[in-house]
Amino acid sequence: MVMMSKWMWRLTPLCFRSHKNCPAADSGIPVLAMKNMSLCFPSSIRTLPLLGRVVFALWLAAVVGCTTKAEFSQNAVYILKQERELDAEFSDQQKRDLAEILAGMFGTPDAPNVPKLGDVEIAKVLDATHLHVASGPVSSDERGRARGLYREHCAHCHGVTGDGAGPTASFLNPYPRDYRMGVFKFKSTPEGGKPTHEDLKDILTNGIPGTAMPSFKVLPNNEIEALISYVRYLSIRGEVERELVYLTADLVKGERLLKMAGTGRSEQAASLREVAAGVVQKWIDADLQATPIAPPDADRDLAASIKHGRDLFYGPIANCVKCHGDSALGDGQKSDYDDWTKELEPTNEEALEQFLGLGRFILPPRNIHPRNLRQGVFRGGRRPIDLYRRIHNGIDGTPMPGSFVLKADAPAGTKGLTKDDIWSLVDYVRSLPYESISRPPVIEQAYQRERL
Ligand code: HEC
Ligand code: HEC
Repeated sequence: MVMMSKWMWRLTPLCFRSHKNCPAADSGIPVLAMKNMSLCFPSSIRTLPLLGRVVFALWLAAVVGCTTKAEFSQNAVYILKQERELDAEFSDQQKRDLAEILAGMFGTPDAPNVPKLGDVEIAKVLDATHLHVASGPVSSDERGRARGLYREHCAHCHGVTGDGAGPTASFLNPYPRDYRMGVFKFKSTPEGGKPTHEDLKDILTNGIPGTAMPSFKVLPNNEIEALISYVRYLSIRGEVERELVYLTADLVKGERLLKMAGTGRSEQAASLREVAAGVVQKWIDADLQATPIAPPDADRDLAASIKHGRDLFYGPIANCVKCHGDSALGDGQKSDYDDWTKELEPTNEEALEQFLGLGRFILPPRNIHPRNLRQGVFRGGRRPIDLYRRIHNGIDGTPMPGSFVLKADAPAGTKGLTKDDIWSLVDYVRSLPYESISRPPVIEQAYQRERL
C-alpha cells in the first residue's frame, strides 16, 4: 500500500498539473478525459497486481469524479480585446461579477437555465426539456432515454462552452464554429441575421460538405431538436457574455456591473435582463426573416444565362474574380481572415502573441480562402436555392459579400444586380466544374478571333 500511495502521489501531478502531458484531462470533457487518461500514465501501471489495479481504478474514479462537473470558461479573448482597447485590466471582482451574472441567468453546461425575460417569448427558441436532454454528461435514464447529447456528439469539436476549441479542433481546417459570437455562415436570413430553426436543422441533418462537420441524420428528430436548442443556448449565452464584457469595459475603473447591496440592484438586474432580451429577440425574429426567393424563369435559355453569369463574374459590378481568382480556383484574394480570427489581430505581431498566450484553447490564426468553385463542393448546400442564398446574402463572418440587389423600379444605370442576374451567377457557378479550366476570359477572346 505504501508503494501504491507513492504511485498515486507521483501520478497526480502528471495528470492534473501539467496540461502538456495530459491534453484531455483539462478538456472539461470527463468522458474524453477518462478515455484518454491512459495517455498520461506510465505503461508500468498495467503491471500492477490485480488488487493494485482495483484500488487504482477506485482512486481514479474518485479523482475523475471531481471533474465531471463541466464549467463555462470566460471569453478570455474578448476580455483581453477590451482590456487592450482600454489599456487597463478588468479587476478580479469584475470578472467574478461577470461569471456570477451569467451563471444566474444561464446556469451551467450541465444544468442549463432558461432565463425569464418578461415579454420576450424565450420559449420559442429555448426549450427547457430539450436543453435538459442535450446537456450534462453522456448518460441515459432508466427507460433508456439519452442525455448529454451535446457532449456525446459535438463537444470534442465545438468545446463544452461552444467556443469552437474542443480537443479535436486544432486538427481541423476550417476550425469548428465558435458559437459565442452569435455569427453563423450558412443560413437563409440576410447579413447579420441569426439562422432560422430550419437552417440549423439543415446543418445538423446534412453536415457541412468539405469540412469536418458531420451529418447527424441518423439521430431521431427529438434529439436533433434538443441539439438545436443547445446550440442556440450556447450562442445566446456567449453573445450575452460579450455584451456584458463590453458594458464592463464602459464602467469607470473598478466599478461593478452589479452592485452587491443597496438600492438600484433590482433596476440593474432589469437592465441586465434587457441585454439578454435583445439577444434572444434576434433569434425569435430570425424565423420570420428568411430572404424570399422568386424561382428562376423556367423557360430561360440556359446557355445564354451561363454566359451572362460568366460576364458578371469577371465584370466590375459582381467582381467575383477578385477573390475567387481568374480560374475560379479560389486563388484570388487569399490573405484575409474570418471574423473569429480577426479578434486575435492576426496582422499585429505583438497583439497576436498576447492572445496566443491566453492558453492552448486559442487556435493559431489561418487565412480564409475563397472557395474553389471548380470542385463543385458547396458547404452551404449545392441546390440552386442554396447558391442563390449565398450569392444574394453573402456568408456572414467571412469576406464573401452579399449582393447589392436592385429593386424592380430602380432607375436605369443604377449599379447592382437584378434577381435574374443572381440566377445567372448561380447557373454559371453550377457549370464551373464542367467548364474547361484552360479558358479564362482573355484567352477565350483570342481563341474566338482565331476561329473566325
Ligand atoms: C468533427 C468535428 C465536428 C463535430 C463532431 C461537430 N461539428 Fe459542427 N462544425 C464543425 C466545423 C469544422 C464547422 C465549421 C465549418 C465552416 O466554418 O465552414 C462546424 C460548424 C457548425 C455550425 C455552424 C454552421 C453555420 O452556419 O455557421 C453548427 C451550428 C454546428 N457545427 C453544430 C454542430 C452540432 C450541434 C454538433 C453535434 C451534434 C456538431 N456541430 C458536431 C465540426 C464539427
Ligand atoms: C471579397 C472576397 C469575395 C468576393 C468578392 C466573392 N467571394 Fe465568394 N467566397 C469568398 C470566401 C472567402 C468564401 C468562403 C467562405 C467560407 O469559408 O465559407 C466564398 C465562398 C463562395 C461560395 C461557396 C458557398 C458554399 O456554400 O460553399 C460561392 C458559391 C461563392 N463564394 C460565389 C461567389 C460569387 C458568385 C461571387 C460574385 C458575385 C463571389 N463569390 C464574390 C470570398 C469572396
